[in-house]
Order: sequence, then C-alpha cells, then structure tokens
Amino acid sequence: MDIQMLWRKFYETFKNTGLESGTFLAPGRVNLIGEHTDYNDGFVLPMAIEKEIIMLGQLRSDEKIKAYAWDYKQQLEFKLGELSFDKDNMWANYIMGIMDELMKMGKKIQGVNLMFTGNVPQGAGLSSSAALEVVAALMMSTLNQVDFEPIELALLAQRAENNFVGVQCGIMDQYISRLGKKNHALLIDCRTKKYELIPFENDNYKVVICNSKVKRGLVDSKYNKRREECNQAVAYFNNKIGKKISALRDVNQEMLAEYKDNLTENVYKRARHIITENDRVLESRKALISNNMDRLGELMLASHLSLRDDFAVSCAELDLLVELAMAEEGVKGARMTGAGFGGCTVNLVRQVDVDNFISQICENYQKKTGIKPDIYVSNPADGARKL
Ligand code: GLA
Repeated sequence: MDIQMLWRKFYETFKNTGLESGTFLAPGRVNLIGEHTDYNDGFVLPMAIEKEIIMLGQLRSDEKIKAYAWDYKQQLEFKLGELSFDKDNMWANYIMGIMDELMKMGKKIQGVNLMFTGNVPQGAGLSSSAALEVVAALMMSTLNQVDFEPIELALLAQRAENNFVGVQCGIMDQYISRLGKKNHALLIDCRTKKYELIPFENDNYKVVICNSKVKRGLVDSKYNKRREECNQAVAYFNNKIGKKISALRDVNQEMLAEYKDNLTENVYKRARHIITENDRVLESRKALISNNMDRLGELMLASHLSLRDDFAVSCAELDLLVELAMAEEGVKGARMTGAGFGGCTVNLVRQVDVDNFISQICENYQKKTGIKPDIYVSNPADGARKL
C-alpha cells in the first residue's frame, strides 16, 4: 500500500494538528491447528499472514475521535467518554472498544484523527476484526505514550471485543496479530498465556488459504452456543473427578471415556473435540520442530474431521474444499480454519504443486457450487508494529 498517498489523503481529510502522528500495521491470521480450544484454556497454533490493516493517526488537543474508513469511504466522529455501540457501522465498534478499555484502565488519553485501510478479507475467518482492534490499540497507546507489553496489548484488544463488541472470543486472534513473527508459527498456552515462537520455514511447502466465500452467518450465537456446551461438560466433570476443574483443559481422554454415558451426546462430542484437539496441537508442535510435514498434514486433516463431526462447526462448502484439496497432488493436509460455519480452509501444499492446486481447486469448487473461491498463499508474517 502506498503510505505517502494515504498521508496525502489524511491531510486532505483532517487538518494537521501538528501533534504526534504515526503509521501502524496489524496483520490477520490463519490458524494452523487448535480450533475452539482457546476459550477452553487449551493450546492453539496460528501464524500471522501477509494481509493487514494499516492505520494512520494523529493526536488532537481535544477528546474527539474522527475516524475515516478508507475502504468504505466513510467518516464518523465520536467523543472519548461518550462512546456507545453503533449497530450500523460495525467497524467503529472495534475502535471505540479499544478507547473504552483504555479509559477503563484510567489511562490519560487524548483524542485522535485516524484513517485506516486493509486487505484482510472480512467475515472469512482470518481475523480482520482482531487486526483492527490491535492496530487501533497500538496507534492509540503509542501516540498517547502509554506503554504496554505486547501481551497486555493483546489482552486489552480481546477485552474490547468481549465487552464493547459483545463477542465472547478467546485470546488467539489478538495474540497472534500482536505477537506473530516472520517465518514462525505461534504456540499459545491459553491457560498460562505463555507463548512459544516455532520456526516454520520450509521452502518446499506453502500455506495456501482457500476462501469458500460463505460468510459466517449468525456466527456469534452459534459460537456462544459452543462455549456453553463446553461449559456444561466442565460443570459435569467438576463434580466428578475429585478436584476442582475450570476448563476442558483439565479433562483427558480416559476420563471422558469413563463418564461418556452420563453426558448428552452433543456435550460428549463437543468435549471430545476439545480434548483430542489439544493433543493434536501439541503433536503438531513436535511435527513442526522436526520438520515432519507429513505428520503435520495428518493432524490437520484429523482436526477437520473432528470439527466437522464432533464440534459441528463446519459447513458443506468447507467440507467440499477439504475433500477437493486432499484429492490433489502434493497436499499434505487441509482443514477449516477459524470459528467455522463458512470462511476459509488452510492447506499445506508442496511448493511445486501450488499452481496446479490453485487452478484445480478454483475449477472444481466453482463447478460444484457456482462460487469462485479466493485463494491466498502466505508466509508466516510479522505481528503488529509501527512503520
Ligand atoms: C474465533 C475466535 C477465537 C477462536 C476461534 C476458534 O476466531 O475469535 O478466539 O475461538 O474463533 O478457534
């Protein structure tokens, strides 16, 4: 993106206040494996992608926020201390949510003029919302000289989504958008909040993302329903296994098998997905470290089947994309990625087969669904930063 051109546009839109200004970036992400495990205190293994949101900001001497969304050609104005949910302009809520959390923390902040643009596909399970939250938080805290450790900033962005936007998401998306690193995947222990950067730099394989173009309809209510079902399993096991447990992280496959008959079928299946998925993430870590792409691919496919059959968050189009992918030459693994119910699949494809893979998937998916998928090839990218 042409940053100079954006700044020219910025000063055509807003008067130069002469105060502190800067350009910031935060990427979207693709999750390699570990789906719906974050809010169960489990493990996830995402990577940041080479698609991002860029935000320009300049402090104002009053409490106003003037925000211009370049891609919507839309400008809104609000005031710190008088922020309220805007049901017509969803994008504004991610930004207001950040301001709101900063104020709740008692941080002294001034208003800003801001403008943003991006190329993270929306509603596709690639975390465009987390990227917007993280870039807004980085811009606002840096210009106001509020120091945050990267983890603190990610947690603040998650709180903005939980409290202001009203989606009870876990920590994965904001963490990876802030902490991602070029040529690395990020293993997050969502209980301890600790993380480990794992080198993911195999020239012979590429991560290819296929967008089903099915927008995740009604995702929030279905997402929250899955959380509730996981909580029901926790409530059951909390009374059973002689110790207090607070998440499915504390239950293993043996315990689940022992009490299977006492759980409803749905709750049993939801729990089985989470418990087996956590194991798969830890196995994937080992596979990545030992550069075993065959194993990583097997685990990705097993994850998809579990999300389809046990957690029930896939859909016909995602299943089709996985099936078509697995029939192609050089594909080690494929799975839906993100919350599900639409969005994207992530595929591990041998470099020499990538071009053929892309043309075959486009042709076959379109033939069966009438939809032309979008395909993105991405290396693991750096997390949020000031440019
Ligand atoms: C969404 C949420 C994440 C995570 C995934 C599913 O992306 O924001 O916290 O729960 O769904 O793995």
